[in-house]
Amino acid sequence: HPARFTLDPAFTVGQVNPRIFGSFVEHLGRCVYTGIHEPGHPTADAEGLRTDVLDLVRELGVTTIRYPGGNFVSGYKWEDSVGPAEDRPRRLDLAWRSTETNRFGLSEYIAFLRKLGPQAEPMMAVNLGTRGVAEALELQEYANHPAGTTRSDLRVAHGDKDPFGIRLWCLGNEMDGPWQTGHKTAEEYGRLAAETARAMRQIDPDVELVACGSSSQSMPTFADWEAKVLAETYDLVDYISLHAYYQPHDGDLDSFLASAVDMESFIENVVATCDHIGARLKSKKKIDLSFDEWNVWYTSHWEEHTRTTDPGEWPEAPRLLEDNYSVLDAVVFGSLLIALLRHADRVTVACLAQLVNVIAPILTEPGGPAWRQTTFFPFAQASKHGRGEVLDVRVDSPTYETKKYGEADLLHATAVRAEDGSVTVFAVNRSRTEPLPLEVALSGLDLTALVEHSVLADADPDARNTLADPERVAPHPADGTTLTADGRLTATLEPLSWNVIRLA
Ligand code: AHR
Repeated sequence: HPARFTLDPAFTVGQVNPRIFGSFVEHLGRCVYTGIHEPGHPTADAEGLRTDVLDLVRELGVTTIRYPGGNFVSGYKWEDSVGPAEDRPRRLDLAWRSTETNRFGLSEYIAFLRKLGPQAEPMMAVNLGTRGVAEALELQEYANHPAGTTRSDLRVAHGDKDPFGIRLWCLGNEMDGPWQTGHKTAEEYGRLAAETARAMRQIDPDVELVACGSSSQSMPTFADWEAKVLAETYDLVDYISLHAYYQPHDGDLDSFLASAVDMESFIENVVATCDHIGARLKSKKKIDLSFDEWNVWYTSHWEEHTRTTDPGEWPEAPRLLEDNYSVLDAVVFGSLLIALLRHADRVTVACLAQLVNVIAPILTEPGGPAWRQTTFFPFAQASKHGRGEVLDVRVDSPTYETKKYGEADLLHATAVRAEDGSVTVFAVNRSRTEPLPLEVALSGLDLTALVEHSVLADADPDARNTLADPERVAPHPADGTTLTADGRLTATLEPLSWNVIRLA
C-alpha cells in the first residue's frame, strides 16, 4: 500500500530554531587551511579568505558555526591564535597529529563569520581537556569585554575594536571519549563544567552554555554520563551536546539507510535523561539539545590512514577525512536532517560536521576550484525551506527488514509550515529498488498550489561530484506529483531518493 500521512496545523512539534542549520569549522586537515583560508588563491580576499568558498557557504544557508574543535580544542591555547600572524607559534596538534601554524585564528574566524552575513553566529568551544576555568575566562574576556582591561585592550590592539559578542559556548568537547586529550570521568568533567559555567556567568549571566554529552549513543557510559554531568550542571547550562556519525558496516546498506532510527532514539533517550534529572531536582527548567556534530562519516578511511601513516610525521594541513559523498550517502544525510527537524522542540542547536573538505558538503582543491558534494543539496534545501513550525507527521508506511534496527519504515518524512502558511514536505524513500507511492491528506491548511517537487536520486546511487566532474549530481524536478482541489497530495518517490515538495 502507499505510504500515507496527514498534515494538520492543529498538530505541531515546535518552532524550528535557525540554529539547527549550523555547521562546524575545526582545525583539522584542510577545513581551515586551503579550505576557507588560502592567501594567494585566485579568489582570496585581503584577509586570505577564499571568496569562492564564502559564496558556497552562503548558498548552503549555514547559520551557527562551531569552532575551533572538535578534538583539536582539547589542546587549544587561544592566545596562540591572536595577534600578528607572523608572530604566532607553531604547535603540535595532538588530536590530528599535525603541525598547527596558527596562521588562522580567533580574529580570522570572526572576520569569516562577519563576511558570511548576519545569519552566521559564532559558537566557541573552550578547552577543558588540558586547561580549565582560568583560561576559559581569559578567552571570554578577550573576546567579549568591550575595553579597559588588559585582555580586552589586547584585542583592540590586535585590530578588533568591536567585541566579538560570542553568546554560545561549548564547555569542552567529547570529554567522555578515551581518545580525547585530557579525557575525564563524568564526575570529574561534571565538576569542571559546573565551575567553568559558574565563572563564565560571573562575567556575563546571559552566555548560553553547552555541556558535553556522549560522543555517540553506543558509548559504554551513555546516559549515565549525561545523568551525572547534568546532576552537577543542571542549573548552570542551557544545552547538552550529542554527536553521531553514520556509515555502512560490512556492506549493510539497508541498516545504513535507516541510520535516522538510531539518531531519533538517541535524541529521545537524551531528552528522557535530561527530564529525569530535572524531575529529580524538582526543576521547571528544560535542558535543550545541541546536536553539535552529525554527519555520514566513513571512519574506516580515517582508521586506515592512521594505520598507514608514519607516526614521526607532523604535516601541515594534510588531507584528512576528505570523504567524497555518493547519492546514497546524501539520502541518508537527508534522513538525518529529517530526524533533527522532527525533534525541533528540543533540538535547538545542531552543527553539520564539518563545513569544508573534512567530512564536508563543500570540497576544494588548493589553488583550484571549490564544488558542492551530493550532501550540499539536502542541507541547502532544508535550510532554505525548513523555517517555521514543524508539523507532527505520523507516517503509515510499508516497512523493510534491517539487521541493525529490525523493521523500519520505507518512508521517513517531516513537514514545516512557514509563517506565510506555505508548507514544505521533506521525505526520503529508503527502498533501494522500489518507487514508493505517497499520499498526504491536507487538513485545515488552505494549500492550493504545488510549487515544486525536487528530487535527489540517480540511476547510479554511487554517483558523486568530483574534481573531474563537479556537477555530476544535482536535484531534478519529479514527475507526476499532484495536488487535488480537495487537499490530497499524491507523489511517487523514486527508489533511494531525497524529496522536497513545496505547497502554497
Ligand atoms: O568531526 C571530527 C571529529 O569527530 C571531532 O573532532 C570530534 O569531536 C569527533 O570525534
